[in-house]
Amino acid sequence: MKKRPVYITRMIPQEGIDILKKDFDVFVNEEDRPLTRKEFLDNIKGMEGVITLLTDIVDEEVFITAPEIKGFANYAVGVDNIDVRKATEYKKPVSNTPDVLTDATAEMAWALLFAVSRRVVESDSLMRSGKWEGWGPLQFIGGDITGKTLGIIGAGRIGTAMAQKSRGFGMKILYSDSEIRPAIENTAGGKKVTFEYLLEKSDYISIHTPLNPSTRHMFTLETFKKMKQTAYLINTSRGPVINEENLLTALKTGIIAGAGIDVYENEPYAKTGLAELKNIVMTPHTASATISARKGMAIKAAMNLSAMIKGEIPMDCINPEIYVNNC
Ligand code: DGY
Repeated sequence: MKKRPVYITRMIPQEGIDILKKDFDVFVNEEDRPLTRKEFLDNIKGMEGVITLLTDIVDEEVFITAPEIKGFANYAVGVDNIDVRKATEYKKPVSNTPDVLTDATAEMAWALLFAVSRRVVESDSLMRSGKWEGWGPLQFIGGDITGKTLGIIGAGRIGTAMAQKSRGFGMKILYSDSEIRPAIENTAGGKKVTFEYLLEKSDYISIHTPLNPSTRHMFTLETFKKMKQTAYLINTSRGPVINEENLLTALKTGIIAGAGIDVYENEPYAKTGLAELKNIVMTPHTASATISARKGMAIKAAMNLSAMIKGEIPMDCINPEIYVNNC
């Protein structure tokens, strides 16, 4: 019997492809780059399901262009690239890949925190230049970490993991969230405070909130001015949570001490001028790039897609309400 066709918009770890191959005819964009909009729309025509990436915009045009598609399994925990409200209207299930990348992402937030605070990249550059002239009492003085206050914006899975990993450093944990989060309180001593209080009191602020209309440009010049001048901002969530132009100003003029940034407002570009600054460490949206996280994401996306096409509710369904009226 002819297998039903599914599409993956970019190569993912083989484990996910193997799961899908059991039941479906799998087509993959094998070029190592995101598809253009035209290629995306052309290639998904006639498919029954798609694994999308955060670089693929899934909107009404997609639902109209490829009506045979039964569901969209996003290869990411964030789904801001998908118009979930419209997908729900069109009765298209959408899934994400939670849990499997929680530790990897929190680890990268910590890597950035250490790197920017302890000036690791600047120091590395000096060593590579061959210009180090020997030990000096005032060289590369950075921020203290042990015993300091870490503010978590968004205390979901990743924000909580970030806080838990601070236990070895005896840090005080504040968090800002729309709801009380028992996990961060019980496992990391987190204290829920207002956003303003967190800004004023934190030595490090780590952003872990999803991108939505209420979090877009949550950090602006006004926000930076409320932070300590010695504070560092870490972002491994989504770029547009920060107004990047304002971040540039804040870093350039010493409004805050530094930033560790993995995500950008207009990926793959970072605001012109950021790369010239010494008080920022930048990584290319690689917070989930560990072997187990990426493999786990592939397996989850494949299992979710497989369930959608078979008419079952996928494990990580973002809009399960579409199934309610079918029961
Ligand atoms: C996500 O999952 O949302 C990350 O940004 C990519 O892994």
